[in-house]
Amino acid sequence: MAPANNVDLTAIMTALGGRQALQDLLGVGASAISNYVARGTVPTHVRSKLYGALTARGYQVRLDDLAILCAPDAPATAPAKPMVLLIIGGGIAAYKALETARQMQRLGLDVTGVMTKSAAQFITPLSVAALTNQKCYDDLFSLTDEAEMGHIRLARSADLVLVMPATANLMARAAAGIADDLATTILLATTAPVLMAPAMNPAMWTHPATSANLTILQQRGVHMIGPTEGDTACGEIGSGRMSEPADIAAAAYQLAVKRPRLLAGKTAIVTAGPTVEPIDSVRFIANHSSGKQGYAVAAALAAHGAAVTLISGPVNLPPPAQVNRISVQTAEQMLAATQAALPADIAVCAAAVADWRVAGSRHAKLKKPDRDTAEPIQLSLCENPDILASIAQSDQRPELVIGFAAETEDLQENAVAKRQRKQCDWIIANQVGGAADPVFGSDMNHIMLIGETTVENWPRMLKTELADRLAERIAEELSK
Ligand code: CTP
Repeated sequence: MAPANNVDLTAIMTALGGRQALQDLLGVGASAISNYVARGTVPTHVRSKLYGALTARGYQVRLDDLAILCAPDAPATAPAKPMVLLIIGGGIAAYKALETARQMQRLGLDVTGVMTKSAAQFITPLSVAALTNQKCYDDLFSLTDEAEMGHIRLARSADLVLVMPATANLMARAAAGIADDLATTILLATTAPVLMAPAMNPAMWTHPATSANLTILQQRGVHMIGPTEGDTACGEIGSGRMSEPADIAAAAYQLAVKRPRLLAGKTAIVTAGPTVEPIDSVRFIANHSSGKQGYAVAAALAAHGAAVTLISGPVNLPPPAQVNRISVQTAEQMLAATQAALPADIAVCAAAVADWRVAGSRHAKLKKPDRDTAEPIQLSLCENPDILASIAQSDQRPELVIGFAAETEDLQENAVAKRQRKQCDWIIANQVGGAADPVFGSDMNHIMLIGETTVENWPRMLKTELADRLAERIAEELSK
């Protein structure tokens, strides 16, 4: 028989969820665990941590050698809900975190709050804890929290980390990889997706330092929602107002709930963004497309398991995870890249392709003519190729070809005619140009899905949610 103080660490490791879970719990590396296993003993402070963790999970354990006497009852059969770690930053919009937590719970998510020190100037940990029915964590070095969970384990237990309000300071610390409190340590340690809802003064939002931090975070795959335009708490009007709780909760739901990979084995081409048509070497014709909807579609198709080629005009967005992005400038380049990406099972043309390019655009900069004598400059335009129509009518036509129709008037009528003219399967029609419900640059969209014999009016929703629903519809169609 083993001496009384010998510890069977292998059995304990299994009971606590494996080697990585044990490393996380003890905050040590793999070699320390191997040493403990080889020696068959652990230091006293480790022994008490293991005892605490095992008994917290319902095991009956002998104190001196940590022998497991009895396993816990079988767990309840209800599947665990996705868990959102809600990091609340120190800004006036912090109070909206409470409403967002409530909305996320209504969507079936579990929420655990984490507050920065300055967030506690705006709301109390007690109100967060009461609302979420969970302890609200606020201190990196609290021994109780460490014994209960540990910051690494907390970070790893989340299906999504949501930061709101994401202040300029919190974004800067996250971008720099600083981990000087619990919130930023979690951001560094988590492997879950991260969603940030920025909120700050408009001048701070547009400051080059914040723009640079935003780019860094987005390039690392951090998802952003907002900010939106409007009145900010400091009384200034501009971009910097945090998105509304309902929109943030919906975006969190999209990211926290793991989707079945309905499109595994399928290939997709997505066009997105504007095209830019040169007039000369310094001037061009373009449009207001932000690329957000096309990028969201590419991300959603990839999240459902499709191999996606995203052919994009110039936009200010990082490539979505797991997507092969090909950057182009002009409609002709977009057409060539699209044809090179065929064959594919799915094509979604979301790009706002310029209808015309300048005939004989020049390399040299056009000079102003002599004001007294010369005629005004005339630009002669010629039509660009129609990429959607060319895919739909190609020998290598994908099984499902989907276009968008941006219309300023007679939405349905124009979109139905456009679907027929371009010979695509579905057209996603949206009204553009309305001041009350802008589409260009916004996170929201409101569309009609028009098929050969069907017209569906979808409610106004986030572009990411729309993309997700579209991916599900595409999977459904391809499985018929
Ligand atoms: N499209 C395309 N190539 C073009 C023009 C449009 O692939 N040269 C695609 C768009 O990506 C979109 C659809 O066709 O999926 C409709 O685009 P839209 O701008 O609404 O229509 P147009 O064909 O440009 O027609 P109009 O401007 O007359 O409404």
